[in-house]
Amino acid sequence: MTELLAGEQAPEERDFEVALRPRRLDDFVGQDATKMQLGVVLDAAKKRGGTPDHLLFSGPPGLGKTSLAHIVAQELDVNLRPTSGPALVRAGDLAAILTNLEPGDVLFIDEIHRLSTQVEEVLYPAMEDFKLDIVIGKGPSARSIRLDVQPFTLVGATTRTGLLTGPLRDRFGFSARLDYYSTEELTAVVRRSAALLLIEVNDEGAVEIARRSRGTPRVANRLLRRVRDFAEVRGSGRVDEATAREALEVFQVDDLGLDKLDLALLRAVIESYGGGPVGIGTLAAALHEERDTLEDVSEPYLLQLGFLQRTQRGRKATDLAYRHLGVTPPVREATLL
Ligand SMILES: Nc1ncnc2c1ncn2[C@@H]1O[C@H](COP(=O)(O)OP(=O)(O)OP(=O)(O)O)[C@@H](O)[C@H]1O
Ligand SMILES: [Mg+2]
Repeated sequence: MTELLAGEQAPEERDFEVALRPRRLDDFVGQDATKMQLGVVLDAAKKRGGTPDHLLFSGPPGLGKTSLAHIVAQELDVNLRPTSGPALVRAGDLAAILTNLEPGDVLFIDEIHRLSTQVEEVLYPAMEDFKLDIVIGKGPSARSIRLDVQPFTLVGATTRTGLLTGPLRDRFGFSARLDYYSTEELTAVVRRSAALLLIEVNDEGAVEIARRSRGTPRVANRLLRRVRDFAEVRGSGRVDEATAREALEVFQVDDLGLDKLDLALLRAVIESYGGGPVGIGTLAAALHEERDTLEDVSEPYLLQLGFLQRTQRGRKATDLAYRHLGVTPPVREATLL
């Protein structure tokens, strides 16, 4: 089920995401504290008739960062100009976007932790004073001119705030970390999506899908569609608890929503490295996986479940993880701290 989370999305998949994306703050399920704070920031800016501070959203994939960026633009009734860290190769790429902004626009930079140093340096004065420094000419005759940029709000999204440089992080006036969603919240996501996609789902069916969605709305939406396919092929197309359960077994989603990669990672720690500690680089090599995928996708969820522990010497499996795999945990000697 890694493909349910990471990697390039098929065009069909993207269309669904766009169709299911919440449009207003009120449609955005869960993350109550963030929603409330963001609502205040946006309302205050609207009242003043100015642009709100720059906003940073962080958290694991599929929790709603891009959705929030769109919501901000929608709530402020301005354009959203989307780009991403890797797309801005040279300083000129960013300069071109900045000079084309209309007053109040939202500039959305996805994967902002992947900006190059040169691009970041152009961004600082733009964020601070809405100014753009451009160097004209080369060598001794080169001179720098300062241009005005229309006031804008930068919305940055990142799966990892830890990789953001300090100066960049400091220039955001508001930053929110999105957490994994509860089963109740994901049930609400499933219901909302089912209504939009005209899928008939009963209460138990919705809860069953929610429970196995790894705390992630994107996964909930994908599982809902897979379960719907299954229900259409096998039965009436209606989704109830039994259909959901059977379908999720077919698609190899376990009780807690752990996917193949999560399980492979746990097994490697327990079976190949005696429960750890083992470094993430070693695990990535053993699993033939990108280190980033392990760190962005699998590890945060396993940490959240209390299946993994991070220590200075690497990752360790907890007794809970052993039990989940049906392995007896080792007898641990008491350690003196
Ligand atoms: N709070 C929410 N309420 C309802 N639906 C949501 C919510 N958060 C996310 N979704 C759904 O999940 C999908 C994925 O969310 P989104 O693209 O915003 O995640 P992301 O955090 O930007 O992920 P990535 O890190 O991969 O870019 C959206 O299309 C939307 O349908
Ligand atoms: Mg996104």
